[in-house]
Amino acid sequence: QTCGGCPSPNGLIEHLGDMLEVGSGGFGRVYKARHKDWGFDVAVKILKEDASHYTFKEGSFMDLASCEFVLRVHGVYKGPLGERGLVTDYMSRGSIESLQTKLSGPPPWPLAFQLAHQTALAMNFLHHKNIVHLDLKPNNILLNDELNVRLADFGLSTVSKSVVSDNRNSHTGPQGTLQYMPPEAFDLSYNPVRAFDIYSFSILLWSIFSGKEPYPGYSIVKARITEGDRPDCKDLLSLNVDGIRALVDLMKRCWEGDPDKRPYILKTTEELFSRHSDNIRRAVDEVLINWIDQIRRNHIILSHRMSTVVITALLTPLHKCCTIFISILFCFSFNWVREK
Ligand SMILES: Nc1ncnc2c1ncn2[C@@H]1O[C@H](COP(=O)(O)OP(=O)(O)O)[C@@H](O)[C@H]1O
Ligand SMILES: [Mg+2]
Repeated sequence: QTCGGCPSPNGLIEHLGDMLEVGSGGFGRVYKARHKDWGFDVAVKILKEDASHYTFKEGSFMDLASCEFVLRVHGVYKGPLGERGLVTDYMSRGSIESLQTKLSGPPPWPLAFQLAHQTALAMNFLHHKNIVHLDLKPNNILLNDELNVRLADFGLSTVSKSVVSDNRNSHTGPQGTLQYMPPEAFDLSYNPVRAFDIYSFSILLWSIFSGKEPYPGYSIVKARITEGDRPDCKDLLSLNVDGIRALVDLMKRCWEGDPDKRPYILKTTEELFSRHSDNIRRAVDEVLINWIDQIRRNHIILSHRMSTVVITALLTPLHKCCTIFISILFCFSFNWVREK
């Protein structure tokens, strides 16, 4: 099957089972579904009407699956009502953002260095293919079962231009995007180039290693960024972690106000990761075990709550019946005593 008028997707995907919504973002809703023929789960991003042209744009990036750190795009979904969406691999571990929420802080250092390195490799790959990402942030860096990076939402370029111009006119642009935008991007005549992504990468590094969102509580992020303000590195520099100084140095070079002074290709992360790679297995296991424990604890709390609700639901009517029964009994016995 071919998609008339679309740049290049291999085919339309139709045979999907029930769709379960897993999240929503600026461009649409994301669902998990089982492909009836393939037998494995995929993610389907159903785009909002005004962003639907993007479906086909990203659909034309399917060949990028040759980089293991870039999310695999399977094709374009066509629903029964004619709705269109983008079908990609489903990432059950979520994103760096969900990892940060679960850990309430930075991941173990070997994993932090691995996330940084794999994201750098994915960025270098896209840039080599002349694709600028323009929306690099923790929730676009998805994680596979083993917590390896799968960079998502690349190819938003045309949509991102409109996001950028919307942000220029508003003081409260969508959080999580403004913070990752370089100062020059607020200029009306700005044309996105790879230095945009290099800047976003530096803020992303800061967020991964500090385990925090940049500029919390700032209402004037745009003004602060254009004035040269950047996230504070004092806490990072005080850490006793091998390679942290070199990492902060890389961060600072990547967030230079002058885009020409930023690195063109990201090279340093490999050496930094190699200092910690011997401990990566242990770090991943530690996070996954912690994760499973958390799920188990949540299940226990949930089942306790459920049983409390069920017991209350059963006891309340029983309690009412008993009260009525005792009252009736009391009235009867009172009358009986009086009659006597
Ligand atoms: N392929 C996927 N597998 C699993 N979860 C995904 C996938 N793509 C997106 N998500 C999740 O769906 C939610 C919305 O994603 P998205 O629409 O890309 O938001 P945004 O526009 O903010 O990037 C996020 O929580 C993201 O982690
Ligand atoms: Mg996204």
